[in-house]
Amino acid sequence: MKVAFIGDVHGCVLHALGVALMVQHRRGISLDAVVQVGDLGAYPSADRFDGPSRRFIADSPAQGDFFRLLDPPPELAAAVRGALEQLPPVLFVAGNHEDHEWLDGLHQAAGTQVVAVDPLGAFSHVACGNVIEIAGLRTAFLGLIEAPGKMDFDEAGYARLASAPPGSVDLLVTHEGPFGMSHNRQGEVQGSPKLTRLIERLQPPLHISGHVHHENGPRYYGRTVSYALAQLVGTKTARYHPGGNPEQRVADGSVGLLDTETHEFEYLHDAWLAEVCGDEVDLAGIVAMAAAERSQERPQ
Ligand SMILES: [Fe+2]
Repeated sequence: MKVAFIGDVHGCVLHALGVALMVQHRRGISLDAVVQVGDLGAYPSADRFDGPSRRFIADSPAQGDFFRLLDPPPELAAAVRGALEQLPPVLFVAGNHEDHEWLDGLHQAAGTQVVAVDPLGAFSHVACGNVIEIAGLRTAFLGLIEAPGKMDFDEAGYARLASAPPGSVDLLVTHEGPFGMSHNRQGEVQGSPKLTRLIERLQPPLHISGHVHHENGPRYYGRTVSYALAQLVGTKTARYHPGGNPEQRVADGSVGLLDTETHEFEYLHDAWLAEVCGDEVDLAGIVAMAAAERSQERPQ
């Protein structure tokens, strides 16, 4: 089976759906699952944004696409429905830039550990500390980061995973990365010692993360191979994103592909990633192109 992983989305949800369709279309495969590693940008409205999200959206308006998904005009709703006829819903773990209270409220209202966050069911949040089966893999989810305050790991969720038997998880999905993986622009070491301890205890064969906004891996921790994904769509100006991204193109290394039979994980660097672009992604166009291709492939 094939699983696609998507890096930090920061509100660019139409880029995320578009690139998942393109992975299928250009690689000639069907995805059995799509997993997003947090910082989806899941806020119910812009007035709930944190400070950085407010600054980013002023620079890159596509970061407001999550709000369009929450109240989609008819054409967008049709495009998203068309995408979901070809794709499984995207499962995501919380990053540090989400409305965590809102997400908690959705779980409480639904009474489930996996809950759709938009009316069309394109994106579903998995609560921290849960292990669910995805494409035959026992997949553990741990959101947020190691930081004092409200962005810190969910204590109960962390404890639940830390007490799971070693070898009981095939895939660990987190937003945060392991300690020492890289340095930020200020020269500070990035990553979480607490996450490294969890990886070393659980020893999942595969760990996938985001948060640092650049491709980072493979890194090895005992029998675990760890990969971090780049940000899906870098901001327009170089102030927040090296080199800038004025055309709002999907970035190299922001999508990963796992073959569960061969256990091979691959960062995608294909030139067509950049075709998913713009302040307003043409999701309907990508859906139509991918659907036409699929209908040609089907026997008459
Ligand atoms: Fe992020």
